[in-house]
Amino acid sequence: MSNVQNVVFDRAAGYYDQTRALPPHEASQLTDALWEALGAAPASHVLEIGVGTGRIAGPLAQRGLSMMGIDLSGSMLAVLHEKFPSLPVALADMTRLPFAAAAFDGVIAFHVFHLVSGWRDALAEAVRVLRPGGKFIYSIHGRDPNSVNSQLRTQWRRLLADQGIKAEPPGIRDDAQVDQVLRQLGCRDHQQREVIRSREPVTARFVLDAMEKRIWSDTWLVPDDVFAQTMGVLRAWASERFDLDQVDQDEYHVGFHVYTV
Ligand SMILES: C[S@@+](CC[C@H](N)C(=O)[O-])C[C@H]1O[C@@H](n2cnc3c(N)ncnc32)[C@H](O)[C@@H]1O
Repeated sequence: MSNVQNVVFDRAAGYYDQTRALPPHEASQLTDALWEALGAAPASHVLEIGVGTGRIAGPLAQRGLSMMGIDLSGSMLAVLHEKFPSLPVALADMTRLPFAAAAFDGVIAFHVFHLVSGWRDALAEAVRVLRPGGKFIYSIHGRDPNSVNSQLRTQWRRLLADQGIKAEPPGIRDDAQVDQVLRQLGCRDHQQREVIRSREPVTARFVLDAMEKRIWSDTWLVPDDVFAQTMGVLRAWASERFDLDQVDQDEYHVGFHVYTV
């Protein structure tokens, strides 16, 4: 809904890691790739903005980086603290970072800019707190638009649009616009890395059940009555088009952009 400024994840803290984790070998490929992209020497000082439960920052800290995390959700930070007690965190807004200029060698942003209406300010802040030559990294995550997951979510958005309702988070998904702003901020040497391209077994019933449990943040953005009504229509639509229990292998990919300040 249009008045949401930030999608804060307090309600997801209890199940985030169960629903968003990568398989262990993919998670460690991602840690290796980030480590390399940061040009990391042990003790490099790296900030993750929107750190959540520490899914990305925790393993990097275990590799010897001096990580720091900030998030607007105290509940997500509490889960992080349980898993990584020595990783320092602060309850803070990425659009107003409580750090001095040039304080970090690297800044990482994973799955956050679509959630933040002030994404331009967040980019400016990330660049401000990086030292000259420091690295700014933000994530790429994609799913096959023909996957059962994508088809169901697209159809759900159509049903909402018919009622004049948008379930779009308040931030940005357009990497070209992010690139333009970063270049205006003086970032250079853009590189794009795909780290993981993989498949996961999914059924339509699994996706519908997950939507109904409101696991994904786009389902938080509509009023309860509209949500229940559109989910009923979506389930009927899906039952006509899919064998709800047929297992498809949905393709997804994960990577990141790297810039030098
Ligand atoms: C999808 S989660 C990503 C967490 C982590 N980066 C990961 O990849 O697992 C997005 C996180 O951004 C946080 N967030 C949203 N708006 C924020 C803001 N303006 N400043 C700081 N954190 C914010 C949410 O509370 C949530 O923990």
